[in-house]
Amino acid sequence: MKVGLLTSGGDCQGLNAVLRGVAKTLFGYMPNLELYGILDGYRGLIENEWRKMGPGEFSGILRQGGTILGTSRQPFKEMQTLNENNTNKLDMMLSNYKKNGFDALVIIGGNGTHKTAHLLSQNGANVVTIPKTIDNDVYGTDLTFGFDSAVEKATYVIDAIHTTAASHGRVFVVELMGHKVGWITLCAGIAGGADVILIPEIPYNLEHVMDAIEERNKQGKKFSIIAIAEGALTKEEAELPKKERNMLIEPGNRLAKILSQRLNQDVRAIVPGHLQRGGDPTSTDRLLCSRFGAMAGELVKKGQFGNMVALRGNEIIAVPLSEVAGKLKVISPDSQLIKHAQLLGISLGI
Ligand code: F6P
Repeated sequence: MKVGLLTSGGDCQGLNAVLRGVAKTLFGYMPNLELYGILDGYRGLIENEWRKMGPGEFSGILRQGGTILGTSRQPFKEMQTLNENNTNKLDMMLSNYKKNGFDALVIIGGNGTHKTAHLLSQNGANVVTIPKTIDNDVYGTDLTFGFDSAVEKATYVIDAIHTTAASHGRVFVVELMGHKVGWITLCAGIAGGADVILIPEIPYNLEHVMDAIEERNKQGKKFSIIAIAEGALTKEEAELPKKERNMLIEPGNRLAKILSQRLNQDVRAIVPGHLQRGGDPTSTDRLLCSRFGAMAGELVKKGQFGNMVALRGNEIIAVPLSEVAGKLKVISPDSQLIKHAQLLGISLGI
């Protein structure tokens, strides 16, 4: 059997652990397997760049961050656009899939990656996918791998900034990743003891953020920590047309600037940025990656294609790509997680 393996989209912790899990399982089942590492995600499939890999290349990479295959972003909306050679990226991928005689592809990526994987599957490629992203926004799985590691990093930032905030009596605004969803910000915010948490799913009222800080000051708590997601918006910003909304950048700095003009207190913003995607995966992620990899290998072996592996409760299951592609897993404002944050006295700016 010939299987192609690729990692696509933004990197995150655990990609190598997943690759190892898939390779170990497949070589275990089929010692004569031909495994092809496709380079830089879909770019390698489009341009037919890959290398044949043996079991030894997947040794010693369980805890290594990044991806040994490389990755790239290949927007879904460009997949069927005709190029100068009167072909498109989808056709080039399908043609290379056939030319190389692949029997299956194991595709590891986030939302955009899943839309393209579904397209490949609808056009005859045998595909199994694994949900990756620090954002945790892939529909159909309780967790994506990378999320736990990113929450660990983000929580560390909130923890560490507490000492400076307390010593100087400052307000710190910590901007965390998540353009469309607030999973990292909400979870790290609760875990790190943030006083205010602002997420894209719940547009906030600036006056209520100020009230929360002033209330703390009245209680003699002279510092406050605000965790804000990259995609968080005020109620007024959320009403803007999409084009104008998309032009809004640096929500952490924006908020810090306004607060420093309105509060009689030092306000600073910090942005850990891509550090949230870097370094070793946590043990929770390594376990999830290893189980995802094993399940993906099993689905390939059994010929159960057109599926994404997913965590539901304590089980790893297969979910049809048609149920996943094009959907986003957002935080419901009515969820228990939101309710618990509020019970803990955290302001959500509403
Ligand atoms: O991996 C998802 C994500 O981390 C988003 O939260 C973030 O907005 C985006 O990637 C930024 O990635 P890059 O700068 O690599 O395009």
